[in-house]
Amino acid sequence: MKKQLTFGTPLSPSATKVMLLGSGELGKEVIIALQRLGVETIAVDRYPNAPGHQVAHRAHVINMTDAAALRNLIEREQPHLIVPEIEAIATDMLVEIEREGLARVIPTARAVQLTMHREGIRRLAAETLGLATSPYAFASSLESLRAAIDNGIGYPCVVKPVMSSSGKGQSKVDSAADVEQAWNDAASGSRVNQGRVIVEGFINFEYEITQLTIRAIGSNGEVETHFCEPIGHVQIAGDYVESWQPQAMSELALKRTRDISRKVTDNLGGLGIFGVELFVNGDEVWFSEVSPRPHDTGMVTMCSQVQNEFELHARAILGLPVSTALRAPGASAVIYGQLEESVIAFTGVDEALRVPQSDLRLFGKPQSFSKRRMGVALANGANTDEARVRAKLAASKVVPVKV
Ligand SMILES: Nc1ncnc2c1ncn2[C@@H]1O[C@H](COP(=O)(O)OP(=O)(O)OP(=O)(O)O)[C@@H](O)[C@H]1O
Ligand SMILES: [Mg+2]
Repeated sequence: MKKQLTFGTPLSPSATKVMLLGSGELGKEVIIALQRLGVETIAVDRYPNAPGHQVAHRAHVINMTDAAALRNLIEREQPHLIVPEIEAIATDMLVEIEREGLARVIPTARAVQLTMHREGIRRLAAETLGLATSPYAFASSLESLRAAIDNGIGYPCVVKPVMSSSGKGQSKVDSAADVEQAWNDAASGSRVNQGRVIVEGFINFEYEITQLTIRAIGSNGEVETHFCEPIGHVQIAGDYVESWQPQAMSELALKRTRDISRKVTDNLGGLGIFGVELFVNGDEVWFSEVSPRPHDTGMVTMCSQVQNEFELHARAILGLPVSTALRAPGASAVIYGQLEESVIAFTGVDEALRVPQSDLRLFGKPQSFSKRRMGVALANGANTDEARVRAKLAASKVVPVKV
């Protein structure tokens, strides 16, 4: 028997309450999607006035890696669902919360825990699920890193802290002379200095994609897997600068992409959207990593899909049906802070929006760093080439200024 879903009224005893752990630009959009369904939203971040704080029913500032503080807040707010938006969370506490039945963790506490750590997800993908990945090894000292490279990984390779995101602490190593620098960069760029790195053989891919994969309840009450059209993207220094949808692929590469994505998400389980990152060369496909949440490169879906990735996530976690239909070819281009300032403003917004079929999201982050992502330009076109030109043009028109 399929369970009847009921939706409450926010700010009343019947409210359906969802807590976002991390309230950046991605969390903000998830909150907006939830608000539209009459969900009571609670935004949590490490600093005040985070983007999601500005649109949620309630906002809290805590250190989410502090297990006691996290538990205390969850006990006070009593959310039905906890939606992690970032990786830097005391995930052991989420496991405990889930085990005690205090709240449902999206997609599952185990998935959140496994994917925050490169060793957990890589071993699962390559060793348990047998998926194609780059050759890899783990090292806990400079000497063992050198040995791993000499004994098989070879050059060029990529060294990354086991816990980091957005390319932090990551470097490409072309020769033995670069290894020590890479080791030091990994130690300083790690979110939690664990003194442990992954070293991966460099994949000379033709292009890389994000396969957004959604686990949602179907009409028969069973979990179904849905795939969005593949998203192509460009990363600079491990950080996304541009994305587009759909990325053209060979039939076989697309099939492999979806087989891999299904295997990984079946194993991680739960409900919601996942961003599966893959490298592609002709018909060959390598699994890279997966986020059990909306993906930054997926911001393009705000213009390219009928239901964007945030709406898909909101619907899926609430047990609602989803559609991954494409609306029109689209692209996104990141707008950086460019300035190191505590307060900035933007000029050229009008010019940006004069670009045909363009749109803009300014995230409202209270402080600017030169490489901080402050907004994104979106555009549609007859094809992704046209959409990319328009999105980049629109992004270039927006100029951060000192006030
Ligand atoms: N083994 C590899 N071979 C070639 N390129 C790689 C390899 N590993 C990483 N890269 C490049 O670096 C980018 C970032 O790597 P990865 O996704 O592992 O880091 P991240 O810190 O988790 O980044 P994010 O949080 O933005 O996803 C990849 O998208 C790809 O462009
Ligand atoms: Mg990545």
